[in-house]
Amino acid sequence: MAFADWADARGRMLLDPTVVNLNTGSAGPLSRSTFERVTELRTRLARAPMDFLLRELPPLLWRARAHLAGFLGGDPHRLVLTTNVTGAVNLVASSLPLDAPGEILLTDHEYTPMRWCWERTARRQGLTIRTFRVPTMPADPGEIVDAAVAAMTSRTRLLFFSHVLSTTGLVLPARELCEQARRRGIVTVIDGAHAPAFLDLDLADLPCDFYAGSGHKWLLAPTGVGFLHIGPGQEDSLEPTQVSWAYHPPAGSGPPDEPDRFGSTPRLRRLECEGTRDLSPWLAVPESVDFQARLGYARIRSRRRELTDHARRRLTDWQGLEPATPEAPALSGGMVAFHLPATTSADELRRALWERFRIEAAVADGPERPSLRISANFYTTEAEIDYLADALKELLSPASSTTASRKES
Ligand SMILES: Cc1ncc(COP(=O)(O)O)c(C=O)c1O
Repeated sequence: MAFADWADARGRMLLDPTVVNLNTGSAGPLSRSTFERVTELRTRLARAPMDFLLRELPPLLWRARAHLAGFLGGDPHRLVLTTNVTGAVNLVASSLPLDAPGEILLTDHEYTPMRWCWERTARRQGLTIRTFRVPTMPADPGEIVDAAVAAMTSRTRLLFFSHVLSTTGLVLPARELCEQARRRGIVTVIDGAHAPAFLDLDLADLPCDFYAGSGHKWLLAPTGVGFLHIGPGQEDSLEPTQVSWAYHPPAGSGPPDEPDRFGSTPRLRRLECEGTRDLSPWLAVPESVDFQARLGYARIRSRRRELTDHARRRLTDWQGLEPATPEAPALSGGMVAFHLPATTSADELRRALWERFRIEAAVADGPERPSLRISANFYTTEAEIDYLADALKELLSPASSTTASRKES
């Protein structure tokens, strides 16, 4: 598919024209072609459910797995499909045995439910949780590695970190962090919620034990796609979160890693089978991968860089905003965050951006100051970023209700 320009590419997306979508980091919209594909699959499921589930689905499922694995630089025999990244992280956290006593090490920027997940693991297995501070605005990735290494001790059993921080979009040096952990016998689990199609991944070359990811953010896959890529040596470490038909291999099934008649392998299916459900989102993944491949992943990444540069130019020092994401290409991608003035109410600002301007952007409270995170993808326009700047001028003025409520308290 040749496309004329970014406006043409935007026209191939299912975007609500009344909404300014600056929040792909939370959930991406679908291309028309992915929506058509998933709808076609759901129609087949609706019309002849058992024929679809028993006969049509298995080859499509293996094809989707192989396609996604190829895109991620991984191995289809190691790729468990899940509903989302939460499911993938829970698969590990709820069943991986760890030696107690000891510690689970996290960064201080992990997504709250994922932190809770590890807190439960620690409680159940008699371990403690320790967090280390990710340097704010590091000049180079080495600063992050140094902070992590300084926090590792002989008690550290597992290191969990986000490849791309959801708070600021900071990209962590995953390879170096995993190498340091491995040298110390520490298991690594990466939360790659934002990574697929945001970064150029090569999972086979990343020395981590478990890599979890999402499809519905930058990959623009339908809601309901996540994955867990299992590293060498960890093939037998996990138990399914839900026990279903694949818990025991069916009579006559082949070796654990051989593709089976269900579109999985016995080992993968044991972890991913959760009874009868709609797997159409998984099956539509090849179209999501191919849609952006037709636009060109490298071109998309450089377009995102142009747009985040525009956002930095437009918003830095604008109404008291300060960048919270470094500019260096090794440390950032399509997301840029800004600290907001300390007097801002995150809830009020989020509500006012939506209710008065129909702008979807991530606004969150932080330990010191609230922040605003902008996601820029190929369908974002400079005009949308300018519109946000104008909205912020109004909403962050001293007289606005988005600043007043914090001032009063
Ligand atoms: C870093 C990170 N981890 C985990 C999640 C959870 O994602 P989901 O709700 O799709 O499982 C998110 C969601 O935004 C996230 O940003």
